[in-house]
Amino acid sequence: MNALTAIRSDPGLEDYLARLEARLETAVASHPGVLADVVKESLKAGGKRLRPALTYLSAPPSQRSGDTCLIAGVAVELIHMATLVHDDMLDGADLRRGQPTIWVSHGRETAKAAGDYLFALAFAELGRLDDLEAIRALSGATLSLARGEALQRRQAFRADTSVEDYMLRASLKTGKLFEASCRLGGGDVRMGEFGLDLGVAFQIADDILDCSGDFDTTGKAAGVDLRDGTPTLPLILASRTDQEVARALSGEHVPDALERVVASGALEKSREVAWSSAASAREKLAGAAGVDALYALTYAVVDREG
Ligand code: FPP
Ligand code: MG
Repeated sequence: MNALTAIRSDPGLEDYLARLEARLETAVASHPGVLADVVKESLKAGGKRLRPALTYLSAPPSQRSGDTCLIAGVAVELIHMATLVHDDMLDGADLRRGQPTIWVSHGRETAKAAGDYLFALAFAELGRLDDLEAIRALSGATLSLARGEALQRRQAFRADTSVEDYMLRASLKTGKLFEASCRLGGGDVRMGEFGLDLGVAFQIADDILDCSGDFDTTGKAAGVDLRDGTPTLPLILASRTDQEVARALSGEHVPDALERVVASGALEKSREVAWSSAASAREKLAGAAGVDALYALTYAVVDREG
């Protein structure tokens, strides 16, 4: 299921996303060559466009149709795309959105350069707003992404990673870009806090899907985190009750480890944590106007299949 299905009914969102798609295409094609061609392929593979949708829905209703929302949405989506191109290479992931990843199709050097191209385009786009606060917000979030990724490398194969350290990683690698997405269109500090909580809920759901998701709906192969020794919440919790899972997460070969994770009840416990983060996000919406779609989204990001 697409997490955006729940909010498609918002008046104006469809039109915004159509304009966003056109502007993404223009930005990517702005410097013709190999990188533009490669990145165009991943643009065509689609995506939920969840972060720009947040930019739009978090903005005060009177500002949603303006250029600021559009340009900011393009910038956050380009950053997101950049991180995925690099992330797939670092994670050794073969498939994304049902298609071979860029490093698989075009090699590591091209994937590195394609991610850098997207990253640079994002700031070129955001610079058009002449808004120093916006630049600060997005560069801060991008630094958090890099810190989150570095933390993930340090935690690799550590089955004893604490839940607290996992939550910090989820905030850095996902929450902070959600937070920036909710601020860049004109959302206030409280909206940013909403985004941070929503991002953590989203990441936990993502990590559950990595254990139990179906390729047809996620577009990604399951079990990548366990194979890479990435201590996600379900894998940490399963390791606590099943030593075989702990051995697998530490890098040893345990053929039925993923089945053991599912049998351990760790997916249900993780979903509880995701629901709690989603509930915390909902609290931040109290008293805000025009936030029905955001409210629906706090359920959709956890209760999703893709
Ligand atoms: C996906 O997580 C990855 C991220 C949310 C962040 C990755 C960050 C970097 C690679 C470093 C920063 C890079 C730039 C260009 C600033 P996941 O692997 O849990 O999700 P997945 O299952 O969709 O791959
Ligand atoms: Mg990954």
